[in-house]
Amino acid sequence: MENSRKKLYSAVQPTNNLTIGNYIGAISQWVKLQDEYDCVFAIANMHAITVRQEPANLRKRTLELLALYIACGIDPKKCILYLQSHVPCHAELAWVLNTFTYVGEMERMTQFKDKSAKHADNINMGLMDYPVLMAADILLYQSDVVPVGLDQRQHLEITRDIATRFNNIYSPTFTVPEGLFLKVGAKIGDLSDPSKKMSKSAENVNGSVFMTDDRDTIIRKFKRAVTDSGNEVKYDPQNKPGVSNLISIYMAFTGKTVEEAEADFAGCGYGDFKLAVGETVADKLAPVQAESERLLADKGYLEGVLKEGAERAFGIARKTLSKVYRKIGFYQL
Ligand code: TYM
Repeated sequence: MENSRKKLYSAVQPTNNLTIGNYIGAISQWVKLQDEYDCVFAIANMHAITVRQEPANLRKRTLELLALYIACGIDPKKCILYLQSHVPCHAELAWVLNTFTYVGEMERMTQFKDKSAKHADNINMGLMDYPVLMAADILLYQSDVVPVGLDQRQHLEITRDIATRFNNIYSPTFTVPEGLFLKVGAKIGDLSDPSKKMSKSAENVNGSVFMTDDRDTIIRKFKRAVTDSGNEVKYDPQNKPGVSNLISIYMAFTGKTVEEAEADFAGCGYGDFKLAVGETVADKLAPVQAESERLLADKGYLEGVLKEGAERAFGIARKTLSKVYRKIGFYQL
């Protein structure tokens, strides 16, 4: 019997160290949603190679990301956790979807333009095709919702366009997914320049807090965070982008509302406020880091999770792919 729960899909690339931006915008949302939805979470290693990766490093980061997912509270018994390259349907569907996507659409993607500027010596086809592979990921699992940070909004829109286009040409084939964005925390800013998003690959490492940073490093980075003029700890992203960014981080790590967060720091100077946010983050990350380390020591368990995840993911993905092949006229035996 089919169950009536909605389907949720999301993924993170195993590149560099994850930041608390990735955690807040994506993974922390997943943890809350895993009981409500049928969840599929991928490690997007096929997306990762659109920028040159050192092979041993990519392999290592794959298991690290899996351990982190689980340490953050994603339960492999409740969700499907798998590695993108273990399910060949992703590349296969991406090829088909390429023929429903226009070059002009891909050239207009902000992330493509940004990454092309950053990696001018390697503007490869994969970098440009990245959103189509992402559409394939999402559509293979007939996903209803996709919780991501705001930087992925444009990719979600193109996924919806491609799905709708295909459904209109043939007949309803794909669920048209909705993006799920946090009201606060969908775009965590860089601590040294809150107008920029906190990024795994930022040039200034002081602006990004990594999930693996130790307590002293975390606190040092928060102490150095830029604030704004005035001295009141108020959530006002327009006029106080630095302070508001820190409040967003505090809210994400404590589950408090804006009002509760502001009340916690009423009458508090910026210095004490920054220290308190740093301590809160360090306290919350310490057990996650310890659990990640513990899991990483048990490679057999992690590989077992990936193996089971790949089998379950493949079972779903294959059904969608054969439906697509049938509709477009691929002769099937
Ligand atoms: P990636 O690996 O760049 O980022 C992973 C997730 O973290 C979110 N994020 C942020 N959220 C808030 N503030 C920030 N500063 C911040 N930085 C990153 C991202 O929005 C993302 O949700 N293309 C995707 C991976 C992917 C995917 C998919 C996602 C591949 N296939 C299918 C959803 C569905 C990416 O590169 O994420």
